[in-house]
Amino acid sequence: MNLSTDCQSPVIVALDFNDINTAKSLVSQLKPNQCRLKVGKEMFTLLGPEWVKYLVGEGFDVFLDLKFHDIPNTVNKAVAAAAKLGVWMVNVHASGGGDMIKAAKEACLDADKSPLLTAVTILTSMDERQFVQVYSNEISIKEQVQKLALLAQNSGADGVVCSAKEAVMLRKIVNKEFQLVTPGIRPAGASLDDQKRVMTPANAISAGVDYLVIGRPITQSENPSLSLMQINDSLKG
Ligand code: C5P
Repeated sequence: MNLSTDCQSPVIVALDFNDINTAKSLVSQLKPNQCRLKVGKEMFTLLGPEWVKYLVGEGFDVFLDLKFHDIPNTVNKAVAAAAKLGVWMVNVHASGGGDMIKAAKEACLDADKSPLLTAVTILTSMDERQFVQVYSNEISIKEQVQKLALLAQNSGADGVVCSAKEAVMLRKIVNKEFQLVTPGIRPAGASLDDQKRVMTPANAISAGVDYLVIGRPITQSENPSLSLMQINDSLKG
């Protein structure tokens, strides 16, 4: 059984706060049927599993974005521990290999409430210069993203975390049900912050994206609930 609330919105709000009170105040302004929540390495390291359980207890679908990358047995155990928290989605680095992704998926399937498993292809912070420091210069970033997305799919992952700019390309090669989860989303006119290559929510959905990870345009807004509502409204029809 997959764990899911009745949330109809594709928006996943990235909770990137360094203190619990500010984070709780933001969460209190959001509703589980209007968005999902993402807990990343900062908040998890700061507040641990209790924070995740709190958010799940508040009724939210939680994406635990810890990007596991280790030997298959360790990742299997880590994903099993994440699933016990009741999270809706967990992720790994696709570059950890097919056996590691399969081990992660097995942990999801063994759980009482199976989270979705997504895999990060190439971090969008990687440019060509950094890419060739790690990979061969005979392959492009796009080709590597395709290769890792197919590896993830063939190894049982439910989707990938990628750039919205890669969505059209990936939609042509992956199954219809394979989920594309993308950060780097900015409503028209919003501050780009440190994001370089952004897409509006509506354009990302048109490009074939399933879930939009959005942080500061909502979390730093004077009225987070209104900003979220405007984004959700921009996706209607
Ligand atoms: O505030 P903003 O909308 O830029 O937040 C985006 C979120 O997505 C942050 O939690 C960030 O760490 C995450 N992320 C990203 N780019 C990636 C992977 C994750 O911005 N390639």
